[in-house]
Amino acid sequence: MVEENNVENNLTRERKLDHIRAVLERGVESLHTTLLENVRLVHNPLPELDLDDVKLETEFCGRRVETPLMITGMTGGHPDVAKINQELARVAEEYGLIMGVGSQRAGIEDPNLIYTYKVAREAAPNAFLVANIGAPQLSKSYGLREALEAINMIEADAIAIHLNPAQEAYQKEGDPYYRNVITRIVELADGLDTPVIIKETGTGLSYETIRELYNLGVKCFDVAGLGGTNWVKVEVIRSALRGEKPLPAGPLADYWGNPTAIAVVEARYAAPGAYIVGSGGVRNGLDVGKVLALGADIAGIALPALKVLLRNGYEGLREYIDNILYQVKTILYLTGSRTPWDLWRTPITITGKLKEELTMRGIDLERYISLVRLEPLRVRSWSHTVTLQKP
Ligand SMILES: Cc1cc2nc3c(=O)[nH]c(=O)nc-3n(C[C@H](O)[C@H](O)[C@H](O)COP(=O)(O)O)c2cc1C
Repeated sequence: MVEENNVENNLTRERKLDHIRAVLERGVESLHTTLLENVRLVHNPLPELDLDDVKLETEFCGRRVETPLMITGMTGGHPDVAKINQELARVAEEYGLIMGVGSQRAGIEDPNLIYTYKVAREAAPNAFLVANIGAPQLSKSYGLREALEAINMIEADAIAIHLNPAQEAYQKEGDPYYRNVITRIVELADGLDTPVIIKETGTGLSYETIRELYNLGVKCFDVAGLGGTNWVKVEVIRSALRGEKPLPAGPLADYWGNPTAIAVVEARYAAPGAYIVGSGGVRNGLDVGKVLALGADIAGIALPALKVLLRNGYEGLREYIDNILYQVKTILYLTGSRTPWDLWRTPITITGKLKEELTMRGIDLERYISLVRLEPLRVRSWSHTVTLQKP
């Protein structure tokens, strides 16, 4: 049994490296877009404020944060990736970003690997850090004890539970187990003092899932929609790189999932008082501005931060983040918005396929734009730290 566990631990460790190799060496983003191209923020030629009046501070999961930007969970669990977590955390500390670590299963199962996650807290003593465990592990055996272990490992400010059923279906040694996950999530949301974030991994949360969990008390969601890193594609590429025959993904590798723009609107529609991360294919400041204007509290990026860091080093990553934040600041200025939350009031247009799909999903867009986006400012409250003030 001990031997079996060791084999499984080694697999979990090695998989992390395989994934990083796959995303660096091949195109792992889906051909389907985020549909953010169908959103336009109306330019305000008379913003009635100075560029310097714009403040990027906002609030996430009941805590004040310096920017509306998160590097979402990617790594940890192998000695070779500790440095990546350390550098991502260093940039998070420097710019006031929120940062997630990757699945902590490897650290929970092998204490020798804990340091590959812990380095994030050491490099970012003040940043908002998010722990990470997977739903299949909840389905199989994980509960409060493992969640607390993950939180304590990095002194996390929140814990993300990732949903990745599409990836598990295409991972040869995957865990496509999702029975009883809702019950486990509710146990964690009830039993932990730390906020629980339900996150997808690139195929997007839906109205139905968010509504169900929101009604059961979950208050934070990261939509991680289609249009960026696609895990069906990653697993197909990983098999090919290992010289194995991939499972037959066909068009699912590019076209399966809920596009990011749809997922953000559905999330805010389903959960008016929740904290929402708009992510999945967010690549620049304009994408950030658009997900915020659609109703997200913060935006999340994963793949580009990793690629830039590994290709251009820490200075390259700084420049990438600097550029995004400057673009976001300019977008706030050019819409007459003082804070990220003010973007919810800015006029936007939604056209084309995005409009068609949202209408088909029963979302009344006029009501959404003029009412639902504004509502959270009034109803928002957090059970652990009640905050009714806008930043
Ligand atoms: C190399 C890599 C590893 C990832 N590992 C995890 C993980 O362990 N846990 C998780 O919740 N999400 C993981 N993700 C998913 C990201 O957090 C994100 O949701 C997804 O990649 C979509 O964002 P993007 O298009 O900006 O990459 C990973 C992404 C990448 C690129």
